[in-house]
Amino acid sequence: MRILVTSALPYANGDIHLGHLAGAYLPADIYVKYHRLKGSDVVYICGSDEHGVAIPQAATRQGVTPRVIIDRYHERIKQSFADLGIEFDNYSRTSLPLHQKTAQDFFRRVYDKGYIKPRVTRQLYCVSCRMSLADRYVEGTCPYCGSDGARGDQCEACGRWTEPTELIAPRCKTCGNTPEPRETTHWFFALSEFQEPLRKWLESKPDWKPNVKRFCEGWFKAGLQDRSVTRDLEWGVPVPLAEAAGKVLYVWLFDAPIGYISSTKEWAARIGQPDRWKDYWLDPGTRLVHFIGKDNIVFHAMVWPAMLMAHGDWVLPAEIPANEFLNIEGKKLSTSRNWAVWLPEYLAELPPDPLRYALALNLPENRDVDFTWHDYLARNNNELADVLGNFVNRVAVFLHKNYGGRVPDATADDAAGLEVLKAIEDTTVRVGKMIDGFRIKDAARELMNLPALGNRYFDGQAPWRTFKSDRVQCNRTMNTCVRLVSALEVLFQPFLPFTSAKLGRMLNLGRRGWDDAARPVVPSELGEPEILFNKIEDAVIEAQVAKLGAPPEPSVPAAEEDEMLEFDEFRRVKLVIAKVLEAERVEGTDKLLKLKVDLGEEQRQVVAGIGRTYDPASLVGRSIVLVANLKPAKIRGVESNGMLLAAVAGEDVSLVTVDRAIAPGSEVS
Ligand code: 2FM
Ligand code: ZN
Repeated sequence: MRILVTSALPYANGDIHLGHLAGAYLPADIYVKYHRLKGSDVVYICGSDEHGVAIPQAATRQGVTPRVIIDRYHERIKQSFADLGIEFDNYSRTSLPLHQKTAQDFFRRVYDKGYIKPRVTRQLYCVSCRMSLADRYVEGTCPYCGSDGARGDQCEACGRWTEPTELIAPRCKTCGNTPEPRETTHWFFALSEFQEPLRKWLESKPDWKPNVKRFCEGWFKAGLQDRSVTRDLEWGVPVPLAEAAGKVLYVWLFDAPIGYISSTKEWAARIGQPDRWKDYWLDPGTRLVHFIGKDNIVFHAMVWPAMLMAHGDWVLPAEIPANEFLNIEGKKLSTSRNWAVWLPEYLAELPPDPLRYALALNLPENRDVDFTWHDYLARNNNELADVLGNFVNRVAVFLHKNYGGRVPDATADDAAGLEVLKAIEDTTVRVGKMIDGFRIKDAARELMNLPALGNRYFDGQAPWRTFKSDRVQCNRTMNTCVRLVSALEVLFQPFLPFTSAKLGRMLNLGRRGWDDAARPVVPSELGEPEILFNKIEDAVIEAQVAKLGAPPEPSVPAAEEDEMLEFDEFRRVKLVIAKVLEAERVEGTDKLLKLKVDLGEEQRQVVAGIGRTYDPASLVGRSIVLVANLKPAKIRGVESNGMLLAAVAGEDVSLVTVDRAIAPGSEVS
């Protein structure tokens, strides 16, 4: 079977947290690992969503370019997925030219087929920010439910889609000013024309999860509306129409989901078979599976399939296993209040597999669930360490102590042994079916019964007694135990890849497939056992609980202590003395100042985030230190040609200056 699996592309402006993992990544990774073991033709695709409107917003707040933000988080996200054992076949990014072209071609095709048309619309415009306020750039009161804080794309309180112009008492998210309506042309995708085809298509999916179906039925009832697919923004994929110059494609429609296609193309090119992506996207035999969180249902189950239908070439999603939300310690997860467990922070302190396990057993498959550190600790200590770890350990220790590590042969199996073997066989089949049917939680629970059975078997057989009284029986017992460990190595791979790898090193049986677990082989000898799980102390989780809601730790640590620069690297940074000639505030912000500086032989304009500490007038005439060979950047639409040096401690900022007069342009070294 050919399967193409995707996980929602995470926005590249923040780290991954447990909510993300439980929604779209861990279940997908387990599903994919299982299918790889089954020998299915499976490809797992993801990448960073780098055009979300929150990205330029974050860039503005931090006084950097959007590129700085996406480069930083793309790498961090990619790394933390890898550290948790999430294995994509390709992890791409939507800022790549390949993606831009794929998105533009997709748009163009749908446009040429007549499904995208221009309309003159009224949009909100912020005079002080000098920008059009779409989506998350504007907030106000929801016209449907009346709650405040509704955004220009959606009201989180009632879940309805909103239009900026519908908001009551709108305000600019950046500066707080009241925007004014202005006319502008936007291009609309004819979603309304797909109501019937979509409804029919969804009827052919009786087995889809009820949350997805319910959601879609609600939308059908309200009637699908055409959606604007262009935005007056600088950051994004340019609309490929001459008459739409200066506009970009709306990130949610003709940009992010097309990342699934461009990432598959990138994968194909990377493995040296540039056309291979077509096997997945153009062959109706492909099972396209989108793992998402419930906030993404409407886009994946309605808008995206309609876009795929409009385009005409592509396969449609076969499955959309959308998960509900994960709460943390009884409260809704909130990144702004830091009520979240961040993956890089977790991984800096604790091992990956216990988190995978605790989450797998508590996935929000059918309803919102609560993650508690106490549950995490209990899962680690009472199940992973006391059941799985203990079983493997006692088998390995017994064999090393009494058999010099050799695995004894079994003569004919007895009833108790046959029961274990039957359980292995049944579990292999049942767990496989559960994973394939997206019942990951049940699968994890079911699988853990095997080592529990192993412990009962070991206790019941009492090999420490039969070793002396009935060696043949002891041999039989231990051979069965090793067969069970051998099966566990394979069956736990999707859930606990790092632990399985340790078992693999001990067993040294090479690569095996899922079905091989049903009739497990044994090696002639066992390698040294590694510790599988350490018990976690209460104090460790208490410290984790205390972090919730506390001000976040800086997400990007200063250069690691051991990360030393070569002298030549340092020398590449050109630091010079610059004299401030003029200074003024960047309109609409209190943080950014626009400075004109003299470098001796030239004058430059730079933008600096020091406006909360320094009054512009107080800077004129002062000598500052400037990084002179930094690539020019646009900050809030204002060109900046250099970066001044300042010491920063939280909100406190102090300029780096010189303690005696020196000519502008002098090098600092
Ligand atoms: O909600 C999100 O995090 C989006 N970045 C998901 C995009 S999924 C797909 F369309 F790319
Ligand atoms: Zn504004």
